[in-house]
Amino acid sequence: MKNYIKPDEWNIIEEGFDPHLNKISESIFSIGNGRMGQRANFEEAYSGETLQGNYVAGIYYPDKTRVGWWKNGYPEYFAKVLNATNWVGIDIRIGDETLDLNNCKVTAFKRVLNMKEGYLTRSFIAENKNGKAVKVIAKRFCSIIDDEVGALHYQLVPLNFENIVLSVTSFIDGDVKNEDSNYDEKFWNEVSKEQDKNTDYLLLKTKKTDFDVCTSARSTILINNESVSLSPVMSEKYLGQTVKVNVKQGDVIDVYKIVSNLTSENHEKQVLIERSKQVIDQASAKGFEQLLKEHSDAWAVKWQESDIVIAGDVAAQQAIRFNIFQLNQTYTGKDARLNIGPKGFTGEKYGGSTYWDTEAYCIPFYLSTAPQEVAKNLLVYRYKHLQKAIENASKLGFKDGAALYPMVTMNGEECHNEWEITFEEIHRNGAIAFAIFNYVRYTGDESYLSEYGLEVLIGIARFWKQRVNWSTEKNKYVMLGVTGPNEYENNVNNNWYTNTLAAWCLKYTVEVAEIVKEKYPEQYQNVILNANLNAELEFADWTKIVTNMYYPYDENTGVFLQQDGFMDKEQILVKDLAAEERPLNQKWSWDRILRSGFIKQADVLQGMYFFEDDYELETLRKNFDFYESRTVHESSLSPCVHSILAAKLNDEQRAYEFYLRTARLDLDDYNNDTEDGLHITSMAGTWMSIVEGFAGMRVRNNQLKFSPFLPKQWDSFSFTIGFRGVQLKIKITIRQIIITNNSGQTLEVLIFNELYSIPKGEKVISYNGTVV
Ligand code: BGC
Repeated sequence: MKNYIKPDEWNIIEEGFDPHLNKISESIFSIGNGRMGQRANFEEAYSGETLQGNYVAGIYYPDKTRVGWWKNGYPEYFAKVLNATNWVGIDIRIGDETLDLNNCKVTAFKRVLNMKEGYLTRSFIAENKNGKAVKVIAKRFCSIIDDEVGALHYQLVPLNFENIVLSVTSFIDGDVKNEDSNYDEKFWNEVSKEQDKNTDYLLLKTKKTDFDVCTSARSTILINNESVSLSPVMSEKYLGQTVKVNVKQGDVIDVYKIVSNLTSENHEKQVLIERSKQVIDQASAKGFEQLLKEHSDAWAVKWQESDIVIAGDVAAQQAIRFNIFQLNQTYTGKDARLNIGPKGFTGEKYGGSTYWDTEAYCIPFYLSTAPQEVAKNLLVYRYKHLQKAIENASKLGFKDGAALYPMVTMNGEECHNEWEITFEEIHRNGAIAFAIFNYVRYTGDESYLSEYGLEVLIGIARFWKQRVNWSTEKNKYVMLGVTGPNEYENNVNNNWYTNTLAAWCLKYTVEVAEIVKEKYPEQYQNVILNANLNAELEFADWTKIVTNMYYPYDENTGVFLQQDGFMDKEQILVKDLAAEERPLNQKWSWDRILRSGFIKQADVLQGMYFFEDDYELETLRKNFDFYESRTVHESSLSPCVHSILAAKLNDEQRAYEFYLRTARLDLDDYNNDTEDGLHITSMAGTWMSIVEGFAGMRVRNNQLKFSPFLPKQWDSFSFTIGFRGVQLKIKITIRQIIITNNSGQTLEVLIFNELYSIPKGEKVISYNGTVV
């Protein structure tokens, strides 16, 4: 755990340069706009520890995998988000020495991520080995308005020398590699490059996948406010604009770089350079300041829709805004072909691919804080992959339209090949169905079911139907050989969560079919036709499974069993583990982990969170006490679920403690892994801990419901949500809930089970029920 980020409500601040923290800061200070993003790598050369990262959404490489024992059904590749052309590069040479902070005495170093306006700044004074010192201020952003555009301003002032030639080269460099590549291969080929006055156009193609990406940069360099002419430089996959000038102390050198990244996903390959010229012209006509202004204005709107304000705790305020900021930088919902990688645009880990994290953890955030289209596009993403999911299932021997969505994917194809996950962690299918339910429950948009949802549900239902088998011994349907969310168990029989989710999917699909049949009869006929559905027969089969599913249960403790045989394990509790044994995944052998009863992440409790209305509070309490005491939370996705359930059980202290585990996970580098990238998907879980946990927000019967409490460490907290066309600000204080309805439409809201009418304006309701 580190503690070097300065507390501030709107900014992430690092003061002083510590090279050991550089890779962590490169992750934390990342910027992005949903279509591209980058780690906070320095503009100038840096020979110290760094993980270079420029990413373009949707552009990946199918890296050949290394596998000990190849199993039939494995996918051929593991998709990797690519480190793409570095567009921030600026080489500075003072005399014949390159400016490199690794070889300089660095003072007054400060990095600031301005979350309110969405940009990154860095300033420092560097003195090289010859005693020559410069002062630098750099500022950059990826435009959230025009998501193909980025811009930077780099200002340098010589502090103590004259009559020395300063050489400045503003460049783009596509000769980059991924740290995480299985065969140390470079993934890009050059197609062409062009230079036109001070603008560079570099067109690269990914190997195998053939994505073309054109990165362009228009560089302007001013010396004491006078624009200077630049000389072009070029080499393999590299283009730049350079100037050499004799400078003296106090001269001001400004480099402006307007950049674009256009891909063949959005433009015809033949016109990529031409289109880039137009984009660069348009952006340059606005100029850096105007681009920044438009960008900041757009961020102001994002904050109006999604901010959480915590009074009385600056560290908590900073943390939640950081999480919201990063989520909004990662996904904007403009393009249904894109999704949310667990590391977003901040690192290579997890290949930048889509996991069940999106459906299980991220959907609620986007549902509440962004226009409806945004969450909808996350669902449509899976709809578009339905055929691939059907192919994926058929590779594994399933038939008749059964769909198994991939555990890890870029384009709908599975690209993960550890058998216990690829073949067995099939609960992801259930999360995808649950997200459809969650979306419709929140938005009331039933038309989604007829247009997209039902077809996906049918594919998923068919998969479960074929995946269970009848046990004559148990006289029930069972599901063998699965891995639940708790990956510290593999190949188990009757994982309670998976069985529960499977049965729910089957039931929900029949319900949805009935809704669509009644309300959208024409589309219903289309779906039947497309899916070749024998409604009567298949629904009857599914319903039979629903009524006869087996759920492992322990009579003695009264808890649902995570899987068959769970009680055979040695029942040691987390509190009995010595601190030096944790995290288990670093300290224990895998074999020992698998045999132990320790749980990586919420599993039974994940199910009780999804389907909480099906269980009495007492049942929840028993299961919570049992499983919480065995859960090591070695997935960052875990604590939020425990936090929400603890809040429901009125255990305010523990709800707060679980929330704390992820709130500053990356800012304080809790797990010593922030240098790999940020835990983007778990950030949505932190948001859920506050909104669903502390504020107890739910949607039931088309109504919003709140059962709030105020953590005693805070003076108050408030958050903004959109619900069915109404924007609400909810403020929770020690005794009251204050709801501000910003729209003209009156909303009925349940607070602790009492119904209140909330017209336009502010309404203050005391927890004892009186309206103030
Ligand atoms: C978790 C998975 C998750 C993945 C990506 C793993 O450590 O166990 O549940 O999908 O990380 O975040």
